[in-house]
Amino acid sequence: MKLWGGRFTKEENQLVHNFNESLSFDQKFYHQDIQGSIAHVTMLAKQGIVTEEDRKAIIDGLNSILADLESGKLAFTKEHEDIHSFVEANLIERIGDAGKRLHTGRSRNDQVALDMKLYCRDEIGEIDELVKNLLKELLTIMENNLDTYMPGFTHLQKAQPVTLAHHIGAYYEMFYRDRGRLHDIYERMNYCPLGSGALAGTTYPLDRAYTAKLLGFYGPTLNSMDSVSDRDYVIELLSALSTIAMHLSRFSEEVIIWNTNEYRFVEIDDAYSTGSSIMPQKKNPDIAELVRGKTGRVYGALMSILTMMKGIPLAYDKDMQEDKELTFDAIDTVKGCLALFTGMVATMTFNKEVMEASAKNGFTNATDAADYLVNHGVPFRDAHGIVGQLVLFCIDKGIALDDMTLEEFQAISPVFEEDVYEAISMKTCVEKRMTIGAPGQEAMKTVIEIYKGQLEK
Ligand code: ARG
Repeated sequence: MKLWGGRFTKEENQLVHNFNESLSFDQKFYHQDIQGSIAHVTMLAKQGIVTEEDRKAIIDGLNSILADLESGKLAFTKEHEDIHSFVEANLIERIGDAGKRLHTGRSRNDQVALDMKLYCRDEIGEIDELVKNLLKELLTIMENNLDTYMPGFTHLQKAQPVTLAHHIGAYYEMFYRDRGRLHDIYERMNYCPLGSGALAGTTYPLDRAYTAKLLGFYGPTLNSMDSVSDRDYVIELLSALSTIAMHLSRFSEEVIIWNTNEYRFVEIDDAYSTGSSIMPQKKNPDIAELVRGKTGRVYGALMSILTMMKGIPLAYDKDMQEDKELTFDAIDTVKGCLALFTGMVATMTFNKEVMEASAKNGFTNATDAADYLVNHGVPFRDAHGIVGQLVLFCIDKGIALDDMTLEEFQAISPVFEEDVYEAISMKTCVEKRMTIGAPGQEAMKTVIEIYKGQLEK
């Protein structure tokens, strides 16, 4: 019989059961459900609402359910509607009448709100740890590549020289902000909904602050109707996950481009590549492509839940059961992407010579050649025009600016002297950019120290 079977005269239609049930997916937070129940009954006993004896029986029963689920001795059986019903029915089976007192002063509405919050909170910790691991990996690459010159791009056209450390640093910033977002969500969500009952609180003298404290929350939520129907934290988490996925996808896109035969900036390790069933020469960047591709389903979860929530009248409505599968999937997807992407980046080889040659061949030092003229008294607009002529000349001859003879330089502008070569060398171009945030080594070293401090926090 159902938990709520009392006022019903007919058995539930099987199709209705199948459509309505959530056990097939909310079993994922059995641990949190039991954790919440233990806190609840601890509070009930402290308040004299259940006896010490019942409290002990209930907690022992819940712990034995947990142990049996974990060892595989106990399986989730289909006839139960959701994880809450499953655990309660099982408890009653194990300890009898005492088990029937667990749900005093509680509704599945505040229970599921709690479980989902606990689950998201736990997962935020794990996701944060994965992002942190990625940041550590990026930091290592940065430290090893302070003078690995490469072209910086705009419009995917070579623009100005940077270093690999600087380029990777841009991703460091993105993922660091992602950690900040996770932290903010945690701070905002960490209030306990338990004790809100179905929607209007309960008539029992619950100590909500105590339950909140037992479960590691900052305190109880302050409006019972909001508590049972708030899924903002789910939406915020999905939004943060979407942003992480977007960052991973951008990075993947670059890795895929860099790994092409045309670029050859990187080589993805064999362990993180796959082959073709027909073309023997192929080594494909499948992991990066999958990470890029999976971004869609994470965005999809965010859009679905935003849409699902937009018509929910206060307080609890069953629509909200739809938050789970999508959120679980998005969390698992992003965790998988983070782990795989980190492994791929950590094992990737950077072809430093190719990168540097690419920066040289793409006139990335043209701005610096113009700056050279400016430093010799030529107005910038004229300098821009002169260097434009140099570039045209080089394109025609198929050479880089650095390959021009001094005579060729001077034929276009007599201002050029022997020291132009030094001024437009890759090293000078990068190292002169030493304001904070720029690729020059000194600037980068300062920034890396700051990053290290952040990671240790
Ligand atoms: N499985 C439900 C959910 O995920 C639990 C809450 C059920 N509450 C109810 N009044 N039917 O939302």
